Amino acid sequence: MPRAIISPSVLASDFGQLSAECKRMIKGGAEWLHMDVMDGHFVPNISMGAPVLSCVHKGVPGIFMDCHMMVAQPEKWVDDIADAGGSLYCFHIEATSDAISLINAIHARNMKAGVAISPDTPSAAITDEIGAVADMLLVMTVYPGRGGQKFLERCVPKVAELRARFPEKDIEVDGGVGPKTIDVCADAGSNVIVAGTAIFNAPNPEDVITSLKTTVNT
Ligand code: DX5
Ligand code: ZN
Repeated sequence: MPRAIISPSVLASDFGQLSAECKRMIKGGAEWLHMDVMDGHFVPNISMGAPVLSCVHKGVPGIFMDCHMMVAQPEKWVDDIADAGGSLYCFHIEATSDAISLINAIHARNMKAGVAISPDTPSAAITDEIGAVADMLLVMTVYPGRGGQKFLERCVPKVAELRARFPEKDIEVDGGVGPKTIDVCADAGSNVIVAGTAIFNAPNPEDVITSLKTTVNT
C-alpha cells in the first residue's frame, strides 16, 4: 500500500486566517491540505474557488493543494485551478460523462488527477480504464456538501474493493474521519486521510495528525 498522507480539510478552519491555518497544519505534520470547492449546484453550499486557492498558494510556499471539486461541471475549472496552484484535481464521477478526457486535461496542466465517488455510487463506477490513469481514488464517507457529518461505515467496503483492484493507487477517504473511525478506513486500505473537524477542533491538532498517520502506517 502507498504511504500514509494526512490531508486536513480547511473547510473546518477559520477562513479569515486561511494561510495561517494551513501553515499551522503543515507545522503539525500534514503534507497535503484538502481544499473543498463547492459550487452551489453539485452540492447546495458554496465554499471557495480559484481566487481563494491562489491566495493560499502565494501565502503558503510549497503547499500541496488537494482540491476536492464538488462542482457540476468539473471540465470548466481545470485551467483556473491549475493557474491557482492546485496540485491535485479531484472531480466527482457523477458529474462527468467523460472521465478519461477530463483526467487527460488535468494531466496536461501538470496536476494529479483524482476521481471521487459519493456514498450512493458503487466502486464499479471506477472502471479499470479510469482507475489505470487516475492518480487517486476518493471514497466519500459522508454525502458531499458540508463538514462535521457522521461517518457512514457502509461506504468502507468500497475502499477494500478498490484497494484489491488498484494496489498501488492512492485511495482517499473523506467525511467524518477521525481517531474514532480511522481504524476501519486503514484496515480497508485507504492511505490518504482527510479530516476536518477532528483535526481543527482538537486542542492539539498535531497529536491527531500523528495518531492518524501512525494508525495507517501500522
Ligand atoms: C464534505 C467535504 C469534506 C469535509 C470533511 O463535503 O468534502 O472534506 O470538509 O469534514 P469532516 O472531517 O468534518 O467530516
Ligand atoms: Zn472534501
